[in-house]
Amino acid sequence: MLGIDWITGLKNDEKEKMDNIVKQHFNVTKDDRLNLMKHNAFMIWFTGLSGSGKSTISNALEEALHKKGVHTYTLDGDNVRSGLNNNLGFSAEDRTENIRRIAEVSNLMIDAGLVLLASFVSPYEKDRQDVAKTVGKDNYIEIFVDTPLEECERRDVKGLYQKARKGEIANFTGIDSAYEAPSHPDMVIKTTQTTVEEAVELIINYINPKLKLNNG
Ligand code: ADX
Repeated sequence: MLGIDWITGLKNDEKEKMDNIVKQHFNVTKDDRLNLMKHNAFMIWFTGLSGSGKSTISNALEEALHKKGVHTYTLDGDNVRSGLNNNLGFSAEDRTENIRRIAEVSNLMIDAGLVLLASFVSPYEKDRQDVAKTVGKDNYIEIFVDTPLEECERRDVKGLYQKARKGEIANFTGIDSAYEAPSHPDMVIKTTQTTVEEAVELIINYINPKLKLNNG
């Protein structure tokens, strides 16, 4: 029978599932993995409008970190949406589910010992806060790639703004779907004033104390 469990607040079928899930213990711990990696694991979350420069900065940052011997991985909107999240669109609910799944995957990758770079429009503050909760606030660095809509539209790298203006794409962020700028980002990069190289240097300086790279 459908109903809500009074103690957990879960739907009965959800509670039944949870009752039958027992967390498995494994002998190799996160600390063991970090010792092998020779650095800490956490994530750098880039948020901003489509075409703001998130992926470009993330790509250059990953290259620089990789050269230093840091074990990295990148999760990127268009790529994740063509696999894991290929059943999701751009309604508010689907965007929230997109980010929720990415947060869970990120949590696993951080547990695996990686420095994770994530570039998603992630337009809703609440969804981004939920990512921080899922991976742990200490493991979450938020970078707002703050490029004005007019500039993103001028660049229009993928031609999507033009399509959105013509009404060929609905719910396009910045045009007919909201973007909530982060209220407390760890860092703001204004791509109209900062080069990609400068952005990479700023981010590396910021994350160095957290990274604790110790590979001689
Ligand atoms: S999010 O809003 O759910 O975080 P995500 O980062 O995964 O978005 O995907 C954004 C990318 O999808 C954009 O860079 C763009 O290439 C493409 N895209 C297609 N339709 C839309 C849309 N309606 N709004 C924003 N981006 C879109």
